[in-house]
Amino acid sequence: MKHFTNVKDLGNLQQAVKEALEIKKNRFAYKHLGENKTLLMVFFNSSLRTRLSTQKAGMNLGMNTIVLDINQGAWKLETERGVIMDGDKPEHILEAIPVMGCYCDVIGVRAFAQFEDKAYDYNETIINQFIEHSGKPVFSMEAATGHPLQAFADLITIEEYKKTKRPKVVLTWAPHPRALPQAVPNSFADFMNEAEVDFVITHPKGYELADKFVRGARIEYDQMKAFENADFIYAKNWAAYSDPNYGKILSTDRSWTVSARQMAVTNNAYFMHCLPVRRNMIVTDDVIESLQSIVIPEAANREISAQWVIKKIIEQ
Ligand code: CP
Repeated sequence: MKHFTNVKDLGNLQQAVKEALEIKKNRFAYKHLGENKTLLMVFFNSSLRTRLSTQKAGMNLGMNTIVLDINQGAWKLETERGVIMDGDKPEHILEAIPVMGCYCDVIGVRAFAQFEDKAYDYNETIINQFIEHSGKPVFSMEAATGHPLQAFADLITIEEYKKTKRPKVVLTWAPHPRALPQAVPNSFADFMNEAEVDFVITHPKGYELADKFVRGARIEYDQMKAFENADFIYAKNWAAYSDPNYGKILSTDRSWTVSARQMAVTNNAYFMHCLPVRRNMIVTDDVIESLQSIVIPEAANREISAQWVIKKIIEQ
């Protein structure tokens, strides 16, 4: 694997999950692979899980790791070509990226959607510039339109917890006070559409995701109906995708907050969320603290998904 930005880059998904679960049994078995190799992790946005789990994955593989927070201590970067740089940004990303590439063997990039220009976000302008100009393999640590390391960890978790061959998995929108990117739900849909699950997406009208991620998935606007007999509930907020409302909050309806009321109609479903989660906006305290909540094992699997991806990259 050269670069990792979406589910297709994994190749055979079932095989990838199987191999990831093998890695989990002995995560230090490949420590020799990363000897004298350097992993650079570049963050344009904040992180807890991605930062720790990806660094841990690199260390499991014997790599040296460097973390660069672009907005804390690095020069502010201009990202547009053709701009007269007479403002507060002293360095252009088109020099910064190849320079970063000089100091490492693999680059992970986190660069969220900015919600200023839909085409700029959905063309994945920042991570594609890293792919084009760094000269090194690049993987997404959540880009503008996708968070595939998260979705891969989610699928590994579903594989570990499922009780039937083809579980019903429901992705539900839930309210949030700030406009959040569609990256997590996009990638979750991307992976679920390729996995052996019965996949349903539920959200209020106006929150339709991009067709390229939803593909043939069933959309159910009635959240209670969607939850009936579900085996896994995956909650997430996202801002509107469709024009003219791209990046806007259309609803803060707290009846969509996942609570015992909705969980009661499921098949004793497991509750999942990528974290960080706003309690009593996205999910009630009692649901996230219940025995059915698997948000912590889900987060733990971020180390495994990252290790599988980095291993494939450095093995090539
Ligand atoms: N789920 C996730 O990516 O968490 P962080 O934003 O803390 O990395």
